[in-house]
Amino acid sequence: MSNTILVGAQWGDEGKGKIIDVLTEQADIVVRTQGGNNAGHTVFLGKNKYVLHLIPSGILRKGKTCVIGNGVVIDPVSLVDEIEGLRKLGVKIAGNLFISETAHLVFPYHRELDEQREILKGKNKIGTTKRGIGPAYGDKAARTGLRMIDLINPARFEALLKFKIKENNEVLKAFGAKQISFRQVLAAYSDAGARLRPFVTNTVVLLHKATQRGENILFEGAQGTFLDIDHGTYPFVTSSNTTSGGACTGSGVPPNRMDRVVGVMKAYTTRVGEGPLPTENAEIADMLHAMGREFGATTGRARRCGWFDSVATRHATMVNGIDELAVTNLDGLDTVENIKVCIGYRIGKTRYDYVPNDIETLAKCEPIYAEFPGWLTPTHEIRDWKKMPAKARSYLKALAELTGAKLAIASVGPAREQTIFV
Ligand code: GDP
Ligand code: IMO
Ligand code: MG
Repeated sequence: MSNTILVGAQWGDEGKGKIIDVLTEQADIVVRTQGGNNAGHTVFLGKNKYVLHLIPSGILRKGKTCVIGNGVVIDPVSLVDEIEGLRKLGVKIAGNLFISETAHLVFPYHRELDEQREILKGKNKIGTTKRGIGPAYGDKAARTGLRMIDLINPARFEALLKFKIKENNEVLKAFGAKQISFRQVLAAYSDAGARLRPFVTNTVVLLHKATQRGENILFEGAQGTFLDIDHGTYPFVTSSNTTSGGACTGSGVPPNRMDRVVGVMKAYTTRVGEGPLPTENAEIADMLHAMGREFGATTGRARRCGWFDSVATRHATMVNGIDELAVTNLDGLDTVENIKVCIGYRIGKTRYDYVPNDIETLAKCEPIYAEFPGWLTPTHEIRDWKKMPAKARSYLKALAELTGAKLAIASVGPAREQTIFV
């Protein structure tokens, strides 16, 4: 038995979907444990592109079980759309997807509040995905949220929803925002509830039994380490624990049942939304955008780009306990002559070898760079580590050494086969 937690080691969009798809071959069950449909995980199979938001990326492999754990916040209407969308593409979803009874729900008032709070913040906005994630987790923490178990109990759901709509309409009135119709939400959510009911179960017991049978579980992290509510660049973060601990609390599988943590990181850095990004660089952003790369999978926003930041990834190894690394998008650097890697930060004469907690300090940090010679050869077609250009191998080895974990996978394209096991 081997249970693996996969996390993003940077600011999200590291290529987790692609690596999950690769690792699912060895897994029996794939579990999402946090976040919601703010996530966008891309998997290419042949010519088909799939973007998963709430459903684990493992759904694309036949015979695998997928679980949406208790730590996820679910917009049920959006989940039904995602299921239907996948079915239209020929993906079977019946008997292979289970949803936790205790996962919290996202409502239209959460999305509206998300939007209104961003407007109010003006230039200090977080740059959220506007999926209502923050307000939904806020309700969970305030113990005023509704859960899947409520959604599938029509009488209880109607009563609880009535109160929630009344309460939130008062708040929305204060914002001068439009009111939410109880009738409309009730109709849409009751319909979604009826469609989702067959999938809803006690996933803690399901996962416990699977562990006892010796099945392999893969935990699919969403977002990335620096978007973690505790360990990220607060307040420019999401509202869940994106680090490895979130896999335990978000699934009910305890820490002593976990065997391995895989950290996924790009060979450079990207971030979408506001907040500090020490190695941000216009040149590399222009180059990647001109290649048609680095546009958000959920919102389509152009991602901010920069050089690889090993101060950040070292921190990620520390808080996640990363054992193995999967480095993606190596091919993005195929044409770069001199590749920079941040090995420390500096403010004046003060040097930082860690990520400062005060974001104003972090925003002032100047990266200290080491330079690596580019390999200037296309890597897309390479499938064997030994056939990789020597300079690319040196670069990857340096990233792993600086990050403090073992290099296990190098990815040279979005497709399943464009994967090199080191
Ligand atoms: P996730 O949120 O971590 O799953 O990542 P996203 O799917 O949001 O963004 C990663 C993007 O990089 C997607 O468009 C992937 O198809 C793509 N991708 C992943 N690995 C590679 C790679 O090695 N090379 C290239 N060219 N694209 C990759
Ligand atoms: P995946 O799983 C990249 C970012 C948003 C914003 C901040 C808060 O695809 O890696 P939220 O809507 O969660 O309140 O937004 O977090 N963000 C992501 N950035 N990848 C994601 O998911 C993200 N999910 C949220 O852009 O900066
Ligand atoms: Mg993404």
